[in-house]
Amino acid sequence: MTTKTPAISRKRGPLSRRGRVLLLLLAVLLVYGIFVEPAWLQVTRRDITLPRLAPEFDGLRVVQLSDLHCGPSFFNKMAIRRAVTAANAFDPDLILLTGDYVNVPGSIGEMRRLLSGLRARRGVLAVLGNHDYWTDPAAVTAALRAAGVTVLQNEAVPVERGGARLWIAGLDDAWEGRPDLARALRPIPAGDPVILLVHEPDMAGLVSQQPVDLQLSGHVHGGQVRLPFAGAIVTPHLGHKYPLGMYRVNDMRLHVSRGIGVTWPGLIRLNCRPEITCFTLYKL
Ligand SMILES: [Fe+2]
Repeated sequence: MTTKTPAISRKRGPLSRRGRVLLLLLAVLLVYGIFVEPAWLQVTRRDITLPRLAPEFDGLRVVQLSDLHCGPSFFNKMAIRRAVTAANAFDPDLILLTGDYVNVPGSIGEMRRLLSGLRARRGVLAVLGNHDYWTDPAAVTAALRAAGVTVLQNEAVPVERGGARLWIAGLDDAWEGRPDLARALRPIPAGDPVILLVHEPDMAGLVSQQPVDLQLSGHVHGGQVRLPFAGAIVTPHLGHKYPLGMYRVNDMRLHVSRGIGVTWPGLIRLNCRPEITCFTLYKL
């Protein structure tokens, strides 16, 4: 007696082969975006010519750090530690911080510990960002001061060398604070060069109408996810015009840092590595 072997039926899964490949690719991109790129710090050097700079400041080294967004993530802390080490390795004259130091109140102490490792001959100066306001501006300011950082809220301080002066001015956060440009620039004598810190780069239109030589900002994180050719998918309020890098706005230079950390939406970085920048200033 012969038995009939039932035909083997090829049951199709819910996904086609192409669907499975796309899913795998998406998973690889997510793992890379969450665990690899956020800790892959890029160190950038830029020479900047400021015509009003006194010759005494020729060769001054200024490091910018921005948007640390200190939080519970191990990879975020790794990136901040690397940024602090990289900043000190430049043996800088100044370290300038352009806002958004924490994502959650529980990370304020950790941020203070990490930033207390910064070393610069002429000091470390900072302004607050919108996330610092959303977290606890008084506690963030106190933590920065405890770490040896001078917090500028609509004020300016001179840096002196051989009788010449360069001013560092800082604006309160433009989104959540009370920025007052006139007040910040009031103590600066006409003709003195000025570097102005403000978290949100889209203030540049307003700032460039004043005698400011260089504006340093952050806030946008370059968009965090950048498509080839198309650039950032999403940019935040007051961060739409200048997403990253160097710009000339009227007679003013503007630099927008991609920052160190990540925040919502996404908590990932793709094609937009965290960044620390060292500027060397030159007169014409
Ligand atoms: Fe921000």
